[in-house]
Amino acid sequence: MISVAIDGPSGAGKSSLAKRLAKDLGYVYVDTGAMYRSIGLYAVRAGVDPKDEAAVTALLPQIKLAIRLVDGAQHIYLNGEDVSDAIRAENIGMAASAVSAHPPVRAFLLDTQRGLAADQNILMDGRDIGTVVLPNATVKIFLTASAEARAERRRKELEEKGQPADFATVLADIQQRDYQDTHRAIAPLKQADDAILVDTSDIGFDESFELLKRTILAHI
Ligand code: DC
Repeated sequence: MISVAIDGPSGAGKSSLAKRLAKDLGYVYVDTGAMYRSIGLYAVRAGVDPKDEAAVTALLPQIKLAIRLVDGAQHIYLNGEDVSDAIRAENIGMAASAVSAHPPVRAFLLDTQRGLAADQNILMDGRDIGTVVLPNATVKIFLTASAEARAERRRKELEEKGQPADFATVLADIQQRDYQDTHRAIAPLKQADDAILVDTSDIGFDESFELLKRTILAHI
């Protein structure tokens, strides 16, 4: 089985690029961030502080996640409800970052993530895929861009969605998530020793896609 691990900070374009690459290569795309976001959503809805490890851990037995392909797109179901859109809210991204720092949450998702890679060719994106989830992945990519480039892309995206936000606020949000994701004690975001670094600060989507595709094909 071929597994491609793509890790990197928030807003580097991981999921849009990974989605298109998976489609192009004919692999199954697995968005692990969506799993953490679903747990974050469940905690917020339950009125639990996502930073409270004991309280979040107590919720885990109530959570059942399922991933299904619908018309070629990955949908995630939280206890049977399709939450693919609900998990994209800004506050849920922050909640996901908080719950992802708790070891029981990571252990809860690890088996599911490894299981998905066991019997199909996959392209999985996240923060710790190359370092923890799939240490023997066929190809590992660390996809990054400067915080400013990521904030500007995110600002534009929000504007297009009719949710305008100012650059400074978006940048501060990205910097806070970078800090949380790289400083947690367990499975922090970091480049695996054998990962290929791809920086998209100065290149657009199509160019990034071509570069990644060439890089992956050269290593499988
Ligand atoms: O990629 P994303 O923005 O959807 O991820 C949401 C949060 O989940 C992110 O801030 C950190 C966490 N996450 C993680 O800890 N490990 C992963 N493999 C994927 C995401």
